[in-house]
Amino acid sequence: MTAAVEKIEIRRLDPFEIRAFSHFASSVDPTYLVSAPALAVGVEADGKPAGLALAYFVRAAAVRVAAFVVKEPLRRRGIGKQLYERLIEELLKRGVQLADILASNPEPFLERRCWNLGARLATVYTFSKHVGEAPWLQETIALPPQYQLVPWLDLTEEDRRKALRLMEDDAVARRLDPFHDPGRVFGPSSNALRHDGELVGWCVVHRISQETLQYSSVYVAAKQRRTVAPMILLNYSIREHLRRFEEVPFGIQAVPPELPEIERFANKRLAPWADRVQRVHVWWKQFDAAEAGTV
Ligand SMILES: CC(C)(COP(=O)(O)OP(=O)(O)OC[C@H]1O[C@@H](n2cnc3c(N)ncnc32)[C@H](O)[C@@H]1OP(=O)(O)O)[C@@H](O)C(=O)NCCC(=O)NCCS
Repeated sequence: MTAAVEKIEIRRLDPFEIRAFSHFASSVDPTYLVSAPALAVGVEADGKPAGLALAYFVRAAAVRVAAFVVKEPLRRRGIGKQLYERLIEELLKRGVQLADILASNPEPFLERRCWNLGARLATVYTFSKHVGEAPWLQETIALPPQYQLVPWLDLTEEDRRKALRLMEDDAVARRLDPFHDPGRVFGPSSNALRHDGELVGWCVVHRISQETLQYSSVYVAAKQRRTVAPMILLNYSIREHLRRFEEVPFGIQAVPPELPEIERFANKRLAPWADRVQRVHVWWKQFDAAEAGTV
């Protein structure tokens, strides 16, 4: 039985209050939570955090909505609608003309509010213990002699230089920057892969919350993408995660469309055992002055 909620309050949060709501924005870099050019509106149910809308300025009149969420048991009661109206009202007051948000396609909530569907950014696979039933995860893959797996935290200077070179040459490697957020790297599941002594890929995993490991950067150099390399990296990382599923029960991986080989791999090897597969797109909306009051 769900307990009846007495009182819903929707209000602006100041930077010191946002921390208590930060679990609604777990995939967002926490610096946004305290940076000044951000706007946060919180939902409280009986005085407890129950939802968050968080937007930060990317240009003078443009924001990225980094979080827009209502706690699961309180959905479909009109709270999201109120949160949305309050957020847009606050944005319009600040002269915002353009907003975007990353969300699934389809996303009826945005469609009904006339947001436009933009580019697909990634396919996001969310998984839990069930992934351990995938046949390719039953055993550790024997490494062919040319390959060598190196714990990410033991990277040599030469490996690091090679990774930086791959990033220089390939925009997708830059976007999947493996050096981002070093403080939250989850060592047991993070490795680099060498082929004939040279670094050709990596799987860098972050613990983004108590419960979730994010496979933030799974990258393989072009010439190795159709080989066993992606499978080696994910096999070792997910198997280490599986050993710790009691402690960290969820995994999430976003594969950008620029890596079709890895996406094909994930669709075949991960999707059937995943809890959820989402196509994440940029959605955007342009506002004009006349819209104030008609959001
Ligand atoms: C998107 C999200 C914030 C909406 O929150 P919500 O509180 O469920 O939103 P609402 O209840 O106002 O509206 C959702 C739907 O519920 C239904 N609904 C609203 N009030 C209702 C009520 N009293 N009784 C029954 N159904 C109701 C409506 O069909 C409504 O659809 P609408 O868009 O046509 O208005 C919520 O689903 C969520 O947190 N999703 C996960 C986060 C996410 O994906 N965010 C990005 C996408 S915007």
